[in-house]
Amino acid sequence: MQAFHTRPLTPRFGVEVSGLDLGDPATDALFPHIRALFEEHSALLFRNQTLDDTRHMALAQRFGPIEDRNADERKPGEGFTVPRVSNVREDGSVTQAMDLHTLHLQANMLWHADSTFLPVPALTNILIARVVTTEGGATELASTRAAWAEMPEALRARIRGRGITHHYAQSRARISPELAQLPMFNKWPETRWNSVWTNPVNGREALYIASHARQVDGLDAEDSRALLDELSDFCTQPRFVYAHRWQVGDVLIWDQRAVMHRGTPWPYDQPRTLSSLCTSATPADGLDSIRMPATPDGQSQQPEKTDMEVSS
Ligand code: OGA
Ligand code: MN
Repeated sequence: MQAFHTRPLTPRFGVEVSGLDLGDPATDALFPHIRALFEEHSALLFRNQTLDDTRHMALAQRFGPIEDRNADERKPGEGFTVPRVSNVREDGSVTQAMDLHTLHLQANMLWHADSTFLPVPALTNILIARVVTTEGGATELASTRAAWAEMPEALRARIRGRGITHHYAQSRARISPELAQLPMFNKWPETRWNSVWTNPVNGREALYIASHARQVDGLDAEDSRALLDELSDFCTQPRFVYAHRWQVGDVLIWDQRAVMHRGTPWPYDQPRTLSSLCTSATPADGLDSIRMPATPDGQSQQPEKTDMEVSS
């Protein structure tokens, strides 16, 4: 059996795991240990790995079903390919600073959890660095578990127990109204999740918010925005953040239930490519505990009495 070592990435969350070759089939036997580290530390870094797309997918499948957002867009016979987060076009050229694709990458620079806008949100993202930049382009992670534990009770009380609606176009609209109109950001109806995700393995609670979050139960759009910004600002203070500077071969895995992340800018004339595989959350990950019935207009389940109700 391979002997592996761990080293904290920050005092509050995350570990670097060394001594493991994730591509070696012998490592499969260690997966229960890797999963236990994931539950405990929320973010795992493995350096100097050589995972091709096939091995990347095999690793992802150990965490759960691989998320496949574009199944409906592929032509018959076209198979799933590992998504790339990249500014490099098929012809090898780099996308321009103001084009819609670069704007989409810039929307990744808003703090978020992945796929909160999908009917089934993501448990994890496994990112692998393929092409890295000479400066900038770090991916930052923020522990919403550590932040929730240290949040003043007065702030926690304003969100605890409430549902939050999410929509993909919400985050894109913050970058560009034109971007938010694209069909790919309007494919899925609004979702609604509990604002706190309790880890079913260890009972630890984490705030579950994202740039895709739209409206908090019982609050109008403006008050929702203000509260969501306040919560996000609290969670992303430097003491809750790990900034990962990429080297080719790095594998970074995080728990979307307990971590938000964002990209950071780089000189856009430089190519940057990460392979990204999300896996979907399952009931074993506590999925059912965050489900809240969707309401027709995205409003609170217990709306304040309207004049009509009062008079009827
Ligand atoms: C992602 C993401 C940020 C980055 O892959 O989901 O948000 O640094 N990436 O590219
Ligand atoms: Mn992301």
